[in-house]
Amino acid sequence: MIRTAERGDAPNLHEGFRAVVEEGTWLPTFSANSHISDWVHWIDKTKHNRDILLIAFIDDQYAGHLTLQPEEWNASQHVAKLGIIVLKAHRHVGVGRSLMLACEEFGLEHDFTKIILSTFDDNVVAKSLYLHLGYRVVGIRKNHFNMPSGFIDELLMEKELV
Ligand SMILES: CC(C)(COP(=O)(O)OP(=O)(O)OC[C@H]1O[C@@H](n2cnc3c(N)ncnc32)[C@H](O)[C@@H]1OP(=O)(O)O)[C@@H](O)C(=O)NCCC(=O)NCCS
Repeated sequence: MIRTAERGDAPNLHEGFRAVVEEGTWLPTFSANSHISDWVHWIDKTKHNRDILLIAFIDDQYAGHLTLQPEEWNASQHVAKLGIIVLKAHRHVGVGRSLMLACEEFGLEHDFTKIILSTFDDNVVAKSLYLHLGYRVVGIRKNHFNMPSGFIDELLMEKELV
């Protein structure tokens, strides 16, 4: 089940993000400094701006979430930046794919006609998911992230929805 976030989801979003950051493998963030109140604030804002926060549940249990945020430029308001995480325990059973498909519908409803994202070049699962859904690689930033495991390239991808 996928729906937009409500205030009561803040602890799940906070904990989910913290858990994925703690894995130290997938995101270029070393520590999750946000507080639950930051998530409440963000959720509240989504009721008035064009940010989209989608949550996936399996049997009523939080499984992961996806965010879409408009680009900053006036001339790029049709473009949304995507972020996605799925809890380790719920990966590889289609949650990510469901979130990605749902966000295209929500995106179009919010007048987004293009989605952009970036991922570590060595993130095989994420890359495969995005490619299968029609995202194309538009660039590679060499050695863009200095992770504990070493330097990693950043892969830039995008998809036009219409
Ligand atoms: C990347 C991530 C969001 C994918 O979500 P998921 O729920 O695990 O993926 P799904 O089960 O929906 O699988 C979607 C696609 O991923 C690929 N995939 C899934 N498991 C895979 C595996 N073990 N090996 C390779 N590819 C795999 C497949 O291409 C699959 O497509 P298909 O259904 O057409 O075969 C999730 O694994 C995750 O949160 N990882 C850690 C955080 C992260 O990497 N976030 C993205 C940063 S850019």
